[in-house]
Amino acid sequence: MKLLGLIGSLSSIWLVLAISAVVAQPSSSPAPVLDSEGSPLQSGVEYYINPAITDVGGRLTLIKRNDPCPLYVGQENSSVSDGLPVIFTPFFEGETVIRENRDLRIVFSASSTCVQSTAWKLGERDPESQRRLIVTGEDESRLSTGNYFRIEKAAVGDNIYQISWCPTDVCPICRFDCGTGGGLDENGKILFALDGNVLPVIFERRA
Ligand SMILES: *[C@@H]1O[C@H](CO)[C@@H](O)[C@H](O)[C@H]1NC(C)=O
Repeated sequence: MKLLGLIGSLSSIWLVLAISAVVAQPSSSPAPVLDSEGSPLQSGVEYYINPAITDVGGRLTLIKRNDPCPLYVGQENSSVSDGLPVIFTPFFEGETVIRENRDLRIVFSASSTCVQSTAWKLGERDPESQRRLIVTGEDESRLSTGNYFRIEKAAVGDNIYQISWCPTDVCPICRFDCGTGGGLDENGKILFALDGNVLPVIFERRA
């Protein structure tokens, strides 16, 4: 009887171990993020990030704020402006397809006059709007959680997404104050910031 009980508790320990091993893996392939043509986004390929709705500014680009450096993530004022393409790199090494709700780095494929890299990074809270800005540069902290964003499917529309900061692949045991990005008007410049209106976006592969 005692032996059976021991075997019973051992097998439940094994079950717990087996479940944690499954949880530690990236959850079995979430849906790929699709571009404007319906093709899965790929790492290392250039995409423009376009607003999915009109009259909210243009493509995502680098923005000069008060100082010349660092540059911030923001939007073009007009939908006819070029914007800058970005390259996505998944946190999970070896992944080549960009999937929904997975941590990834976003880097503008452009040269900058600033010493900082053109990688997106969680920036400071704007005192006026209380929204967290997205700046460019490398997060030098141990896990670099500030450099990992994710793409979520928007509630409505085909191939329409939103961009969030919630790096739980990078640190599953951390608790983050997660947020989703949208435009923030600052004296005519459109900054990209968390914690307010959300910008639905479409990814357009650079021709
Ligand atoms: C948008 O217009 C504002 C005000 O005229 C200007 O300061 C800003 O640089 C413009 N943004 C871009 C991306 O050109």
